[in-house]
Amino acid sequence: MTTHPQSRLTHFPIQEIDLPSSFAVDFLSEFVRAAEFDKTGKQSSHSIIVSLISHKIGEKLGLERKEMKELFFAALLHDIGGIAQAEHISEKLVAIPDIFGQKNDFFIFAHSHRSETILKSFPTFRKISEIVKSHHEFFDGGGFPSGLSGEKIPLFSRIIRIADTVDILLKLHSVNKKDDLISLLNIVAGEEFDPAIYGVFAQLIQESDLFEVLKDPKAVELEIEAIKKLMPDNYYFSAPDTINRFFRTVAVMTDNITSYEDTHSLRVAEFAVNIAYLLKLDPDEILLVRWASFLHDIGKIKGDRSVYTKKDKLSESEWSKIREHPQKSFDIINKVSGMEKIAYYILHHHENFDGSGYPDNLSANRIPLASRILRVADAFDAMTTDRIYHRKKDWQRALKELKNFSGTQFDPEIVELFIDNLS
Ligand SMILES: [Fe+2]
Ligand SMILES: [Fe+2]
Ligand SMILES: [Fe+2]
Repeated sequence: MTTHPQSRLTHFPIQEIDLPSSFAVDFLSEFVRAAEFDKTGKQSSHSIIVSLISHKIGEKLGLERKEMKELFFAALLHDIGGIAQAEHISEKLVAIPDIFGQKNDFFIFAHSHRSETILKSFPTFRKISEIVKSHHEFFDGGGFPSGLSGEKIPLFSRIIRIADTVDILLKLHSVNKKDDLISLLNIVAGEEFDPAIYGVFAQLIQESDLFEVLKDPKAVELEIEAIKKLMPDNYYFSAPDTINRFFRTVAVMTDNITSYEDTHSLRVAEFAVNIAYLLKLDPDEILLVRWASFLHDIGKIKGDRSVYTKKDKLSESEWSKIREHPQKSFDIINKVSGMEKIAYYILHHHENFDGSGYPDNLSANRIPLASRILRVADAFDAMTTDRIYHRKKDWQRALKELKNFSGTQFDPEIVELFIDNLS
């Protein structure tokens, strides 16, 4: 990553803004939900459904409150390492449902390990990382990645295993009766599932309305909203700097799956924070600028991502798809209570100073200051890195270009400050 000698990020203080206790469940569920779309662009809600089923099994097993939370968050994040450029892991598993095929597919084989690696770097997520690592282990030892068997597999991984398979089976086959689901599960029950957990699940399906709920996306939403209310938790993001580092990770993941530049959002954050310092913004506001930079393109993970990496000339309809991303980013972040201001900054990061930008054609001071900062930082990074459609410019030429579009695309005051400071 290009780090300017005057970079402020290297000595950015560890400091966090108080977020409501619903932050963890809100943010994580919106993030995974956004990433999970099937080939037709329809929301697949795989991890949401797996969390719901796991939660119901946990309830039936009489788990304690704390354990219920751990199970829920592990289920929600079990496939976080399975977000890829072309498709989500759950779609791949629908395409390759047999265990031999799965073990032979590198991406499938590696995804549970990737989920573990992502989560393990955060001390408060370490326990969950152990659970997600083993969510494809089979009770008879035939699963992956380690071939663990029986009770060597963590209990919550065994619960997630059956919940995961139930969702994949329901997506693979049109199952209209409870008994049909049970017979389908029966085929693999012996080797794949813990017989005790399988028994609990079979009973649950017979005696509750879970099957009907799973068949109805609206009912799933209602159930999950009710469960989310039981999950407020300050623990996961309580260790110093966890929110910053988690947003950074999300930034890298977003850039990784939507462009050839996996450090774009990090550099945008660096430039944007520099500008915010030069403008003498309050420390709290500077932090919001930093977070908005990390998350500004998060909407690109939603739906068809191929337009962002397409090498051929884009059609007008493809361009308009690209122009939807600030709105998509807003839709994800605005659902997280406490993040409304950041959502608003992100929504306007492609507005032009003269009113010719998108999505709302705002101009001049009607564009939030943080969005005007993002606009300059984003454009400067785009100019100084290689993209599909252009070769990178050196810094001096890029600064000249900023000046050329000062007052039309960019806020002249910001451009002047930025140039004075960098040249
Ligand atoms: Fe998985
Ligand atoms: Fe899964
Ligand atoms: Fe953007």
